[in-house]
Amino acid sequence: MSDIAPARIPHKRRYLMCRPEHYTVSYSINPWMEPANPTDTAKAIAQWQRLYDTYVELGHEVELIDPLEGYPDMVYTANGGFLIDGIAYGPEFRYVERQGEAPAFIDWFRANGYDTRAPEEVNEGEGDFLLAGDVVLAGTGFRSTGDSHGEVARIFGREVVSLTLVDPRFYHLDTALAVLDPVVEPGAEPGVAYLPHAFDEASRAELERRFPNAILVSDEDGAVFGLNSASDGYNVIISPRAKGFEVQLRERGYNPILVDLSELLLGGGGIKCCTLELRGAAGAGEETA
Ligand code: ARG
Repeated sequence: MSDIAPARIPHKRRYLMCRPEHYTVSYSINPWMEPANPTDTAKAIAQWQRLYDTYVELGHEVELIDPLEGYPDMVYTANGGFLIDGIAYGPEFRYVERQGEAPAFIDWFRANGYDTRAPEEVNEGEGDFLLAGDVVLAGTGFRSTGDSHGEVARIFGREVVSLTLVDPRFYHLDTALAVLDPVVEPGAEPGVAYLPHAFDEASRAELERRFPNAILVSDEDGAVFGLNSASDGYNVIISPRAKGFEVQLRERGYNPILVDLSELLLGGGGIKCCTLELRGAAGAGEETA
């Protein structure tokens, strides 16, 4: 890396979000969720709105899916699917509490013209699948199964790199790793940031080999969900609590923008969890499939 940070270019993104109208913490499926602690739905909505408005101000397109009553976690749309080139791979949630969300996401993809594939394997969408350049980084250990990694490889015809998560606080890949460059030249190393301790040794070695220039974040920044961020290649929306990561991003020429989702962290989710990327024009999948 040179001392001079490279010029970063923002790329327009298309996202799917879900207003947290029914948000609360009424069950616990990850170590962050404490049903005994009160939640404030109005505050969750206000914080979520800030994130929505930030995306719109940056020129991104944001689609909305209707929230379902009785599904307080539906705000975390990243788990609702994984999309590349107009093909939408549907979710199959690990826990019964979220399973009713799957048909709603699949219906939304169909209604919006995506070439929609119902899954056979347990997987939690972009929570565990992140596109980095032309390979798919895939998390397992807590939610999505190793078999879902094979299913993704078959459906998208891409190389899938399996990574094993070992710390229950970082139960989805998007809590432990962020892709900073959504668009890169073929063969170029995309910017990524990750929390080394969240992965087993073999996965860490694989990450070091593939991403020698990655940003390694501190345990402190990881623990406030600093990595659960959304980047357009220049602007990176992060938690205001991830102080060290903010500095690391600036040093590399990114523009960190701080958005606080403290209320949604009570459910074990952050910025990326509330954001599903819709890659490829709807209808494109049918032509190329
Ligand atoms: N309460 C949700 C769950 O445990 C939070 C999901 C967070 N989503 C994410 N993409 N990391 O399923």
